[in-house]
Amino acid sequence: MKILSVVGARPNFMKIAPISDELKKKGVPHVLVHTGQHYDYRMSKLFFEDLGLPKPDIDLNVGSATHARQTAEIMTGIEPVLMSEAPDLLIVVGDVNSTMAAAITAVKLGVPVAHVEAGLRSFDRTMPEEINRMITDAIADMHFTTEESANENLRKEGVDDGKVFFAGNTMIDTLFKHANSAAESTILETLGIRPREYGVATLHRPSNVDSFVNLKNILEALNDVARDLPVIFPIHPRTKKLIASYNLGNLVSESTSNKHSGIHIIEPLGYLDFLKLMTDSRIVFTDSGGIQEETTVLRLPCLTLRENTERPVTITSGTNTLVGADKNRIIEEARRKLDAGFVAGQPLPPLWDGHAAERIVGTILNRFN
Ligand code: UD1
Repeated sequence: MKILSVVGARPNFMKIAPISDELKKKGVPHVLVHTGQHYDYRMSKLFFEDLGLPKPDIDLNVGSATHARQTAEIMTGIEPVLMSEAPDLLIVVGDVNSTMAAAITAVKLGVPVAHVEAGLRSFDRTMPEEINRMITDAIADMHFTTEESANENLRKEGVDDGKVFFAGNTMIDTLFKHANSAAESTILETLGIRPREYGVATLHRPSNVDSFVNLKNILEALNDVARDLPVIFPIHPRTKKLIASYNLGNLVSESTSNKHSGIHIIEPLGYLDFLKLMTDSRIVFTDSGGIQEETTVLRLPCLTLRENTERPVTITSGTNTLVGADKNRIIEEARRKLDAGFVAGQPLPPLWDGHAAERIVGTILNRFN
């Protein structure tokens, strides 16, 4: 049998890496396609290096564009690849445009699709990712899920139980695998900061960064928290452009020379440096899906700058709190979490044990043999 998998954007790389390793271990022919949705060195190639991912066999180089254009370019690029490679199965991960575009193209060519991280729902259709998740799940043949809520969502949407496989979380496989190498990162020394004496922020959702009001509220709230605890902010290129175009640069600083306070913008970090930065922080502010899950495993206080989450297990496990883009809510909840400290003793979500990729590849091999 032959498997083709598709990645495109930063969070895809951590999710495919353990699957790629496991396919190699089992001797399954695997073609890895990169759509080029993310293309900056720090958003893409650096992750391949950190994660030991093989160089993609094929790069479609689609780059950035409007949703329709980017989706169309991925579909047009991947169609001839699927036709010439003729895989038995396409694996897609997560919820980015590359995930949905590849899945639609494959299904129309009669190639079955396995969706890893299926069934998550924020029930917020203004999020592009929610549309990507719904469409991918509606046409996938195998749904590999990370948490019980996803099984339930797929059941309610009428997906046959026989197509849903509760496998665990491949992003967490990656975290466990690389925790020791990340511990050796010298990023704290480079930045001149000490463990537990800073917070970390990441921000890139259109609902936060494309809105002047939300972006300003969030940066003002973080500034308030950062009077006592400096906040390190590895910045997504999209967010960097919007802070500049909204003239909000006065709310952030581009150096870490004053390490005692303020929001400090730094370049996007690779996987290992970011994992170290996050692991040694006191609190995390984010609108990322993956970071909500990683802080759950690291048992770090996390404030999610959104009104909803498609990953409710991160809340029931005790580390994550939704605070939206509301300035007072962010400040109050940050104070409460900083006073409370670590969330000790919570059991990890079921099957977040570092073996999800083994279960996924095992299930696929069973089906095709
Ligand atoms: C995408 C995903 C989002 C995911 C995020 C992780 C979709 C709809 N969104 O959002 O789910 O959480 O990736 O980062 O698929 N840019 C660069 N260099 C790059 C990539 C992007 O400068 O390497 C800039 C471009 O200005 C681009 C903008 O960032 O227009 C947005 O990139 P895009 O891939 O459209 O979406 P993300 O916001 O990165």
